[in-house]
Amino acid sequence: MADESRYDLAVIGAGPGGYVAAIRAAQLGMRVVCVDEEAALGGTCLRIGCIPSKALLDSSELFSQARHRLAAHGVQVGEVGLDLAAMMRRKEQVVHGLTTGVAGLFKKNRVTARQGRARIAAPDRVIVEGPDAGALTASRIIIATGSTPASLPGFDFDRSRIVGSEEALSFETVPARLLVIGAGAIGLELGSVWARLGAEVSFVEVADRVAPGMDPDLTRPLQRALERQGLSFRLSAHARKAVVTDAGVEVTIESGGTTVTESFDRVLVAVGRRPATAGLGLEALGVALDPKGYIRVDARYQTSVPGIHAIGDVIGGPMLAHKAEDEGIACVESMAGQAGHVNYDAIPSVIYTWPELAAVGKTEPDCRAQGLEVTTGTSLFAANGRARAMGERDGLVKVIAEARSDRLVGLHILGPHASELIAEAVVAIELGAGAEDIARTSHAHPTLTEAIREAALAAGKRAIHS
Ligand code: NAI
Repeated sequence: MADESRYDLAVIGAGPGGYVAAIRAAQLGMRVVCVDEEAALGGTCLRIGCIPSKALLDSSELFSQARHRLAAHGVQVGEVGLDLAAMMRRKEQVVHGLTTGVAGLFKKNRVTARQGRARIAAPDRVIVEGPDAGALTASRIIIATGSTPASLPGFDFDRSRIVGSEEALSFETVPARLLVIGAGAIGLELGSVWARLGAEVSFVEVADRVAPGMDPDLTRPLQRALERQGLSFRLSAHARKAVVTDAGVEVTIESGGTTVTESFDRVLVAVGRRPATAGLGLEALGVALDPKGYIRVDARYQTSVPGIHAIGDVIGGPMLAHKAEDEGIACVESMAGQAGHVNYDAIPSVIYTWPELAAVGKTEPDCRAQGLEVTTGTSLFAANGRARAMGERDGLVKVIAEARSDRLVGLHILGPHASELIAEAVVAIELGAGAEDIARTSHAHPTLTEAIREAALAAGKRAIHS
């Protein structure tokens, strides 16, 4: 297909940043094309990230509950078996449903999808190579190409024994021994999946705690909860070397002053992600990158080259689908002369372990580092009636408010369904609420949300249940 179609906007990348920007731009009256090298739309998140991992987390949690927890509720089941192939097929169906859904949304909004690798030849010209090859012109371009797994020296991905997150979503058998390098979001989530399905999962993490970006008052109890589920952690540790053999991988690990070599069936490297900027032609165009390789943008997401914009993982900040979506919308709305704004203080982040860890705003160490005087309040789920009825005793809520004004600056939840509970805190921070506002808001009883109110009451030194 070699047309020279002219568009108002060409979006490169159909992940949550790109496809949402494309649809919003079409709603605003622009003629839009979205180019992605994959046939399935939705990017890393829908195809090989957030969605398939959540499908497996839900399936594996059900398996684990059937094996370990139903009896405590008086529910008797026969022998519980695992059909991993069926679990994987279900995951694929979930992904397929959502990626075809994006294609449907493109059709409905008259966004043209083109499959192929895009290169920007000029600020208004994109060359596509692949199934829908050809050139196209566009008044504006948005780069929304996302990120790829960071590699670790000595641990080259072979997609079989030493893998990244994509392969770890599709193992054909449960590995007997899985080593996860990096106890961040990906490592903890995929490590949980395979541990629940029967793998012996151990971690090597350079930091002195798991999920090091999160508030330490919550990461330590998270680690203990995961250890009770059988996961094991070597902290302040380094994986130095891997030797792939016929039987597995021999890994040399340095930890606590000693060096050991152990064998594993597979190694998952989850030490972060890097911006995906290669092959776009950015150097020739003079698009400026920062020292870490992220594309530099201004407040309206324009790069150093007028007409070329960038959003999502490629510009740095938290690598989160919803952050990319918000930036995509703000970017095209500002192109259309609207206000277009993202509140970076109110972007939630979640690690979907069990219990889940969810946060918005600053951690207490962040506040200390910024010289911000704060008051904090915590409440334990062990003192929450609904959590007790569910059989969930792990976890807590921590509220952080600015001491001078009581304005909420951070809220952190480790507990059941924390991913859903955090929304209340996001709205509160977005609206500039104080801890007192949450404390004075009625929360249904008995619900998990009462733990948030209780933590807000504790911040005002008037907790009832602790
Ligand atoms: P991450 O940045 O969340 O965690 C990487 C972990 O690896 C950190 O704990 C870090 O201290 C550790 N690490 C770094 N180098 C190491 C080394 N040489 N040896 C041992 N440990 C090392 O990155 P991750 O988990 O790879 O995820 C990539 C991105 O995707 C992140 O930005 C994350 O926020 C995002 N993501 C978000 C999810 C969510 O919101 N639920 C789920 C999965 C990924």
